[in-house]
Amino acid sequence: MNFLYYCQDDNGKLLQAVREKLGNSHHVFDWLNDQDIPLENIDAAIVWLPPDHFFEGLPNLTHVYALAAGVDHLLKHPGLPPHVNVVRLRDAGMGEQMAEYALLGTLMAQRKMVQISIAQSENQWRHEISADTAISTRVGVLGAGALGSKVAERLALNNYPVTCWSRSPHTLPKPIVSMHGANELDAFLAQSNVLVCLLPLTENTHGILNGELFDKLPTGAFLINPGRGGHLVDNDLIEALDSGKLSGALLDVFHEEPLVSSHPFWNHPKIIVTPHVAAKSVPDKSADQIIDSIRHVERGDLPPGLVNRDRGY
Ligand code: NAP
Ligand code: GLV
Repeated sequence: MNFLYYCQDDNGKLLQAVREKLGNSHHVFDWLNDQDIPLENIDAAIVWLPPDHFFEGLPNLTHVYALAAGVDHLLKHPGLPPHVNVVRLRDAGMGEQMAEYALLGTLMAQRKMVQISIAQSENQWRHEISADTAISTRVGVLGAGALGSKVAERLALNNYPVTCWSRSPHTLPKPIVSMHGANELDAFLAQSNVLVCLLPLTENTHGILNGELFDKLPTGAFLINPGRGGHLVDNDLIEALDSGKLSGALLDVFHEEPLVSSHPFWNHPKIIVTPHVAAKSVPDKSADQIIDSIRHVERGDLPPGLVNRDRGY
């Protein structure tokens, strides 16, 4: 089989791991560096953010392996052929990192670090600021997938009461509570002092983090968004922070990345901006997953991580 690889920012580590693990029976062409690539003989592509013309002249392409958990960019790609199967990463070393990121944000919320850092910027000794207890800081995780479930487990281990909300029902390890569907969303929000968004960006979740949703959270709730920028209505967040409805936000993803230097999020005292670093796939684990999926396809089985293109994740 012949593969076409495109990724600008992995230092070649993943390409090397895929080549080594696949062995000589498969050829992996590097779109960015190889010459004379036999495009008509390419069976599958392995990509992160390929350019608009990447899929041109590939008549035999059947599978695209995304080097990411979220496939919103890829599904919106103007050249992605409608018939190809899209396969995504599941965790691939990101779960641990995402759990740490959510724990960091939850600790900041519980320990009132936004208020303390605002006081510091004003040289104010505000001894009256008191931390909440972990047990009284209830965390709601939007999404119970590969990453949301890992986040929930880590937070529960740290004594936070955690509830996940998903599209379909899940059985999660105790004491994590599972809620699902539109009917349970309001009750889920009403008990979330910290809200972590780990939904995929789809037509059903676009703009879900908006003023109406913030109004349903307890006053003073804290938002953590490592999902996608498209989940958030930026102006609604600023209004909710300025009115005191929300106490702070830790944001890793944005409508436009890099976040433009004029964006109001950069200097908002209640917002912490991180540059899409919450969780990065680990090359060796990603290569193992991609190869496992390729072996499934070769045996005629459905590959793990196969995306439902109609559903959008
Ligand atoms: P996943 O395994 O596909 O899980 C997605 C979860 O969202 C599932 O539990 C799913 O419900 C739920 N969901 C989807 N649509 C929904 C809807 N309309 N209503 C309610 N629940 C819905 O995805 P993942 O691997 O955990 O990744 C989640 C997202 O994290 C990615 O799509 C990506 O955007 C983001 N991400 C960010 C970073 C970063 O560094 N910032 C890194 C990796 C990933 P069901 O279980 O019922 O299907
Ligand atoms: C990163 O954002 C990913 O979706 O893997």
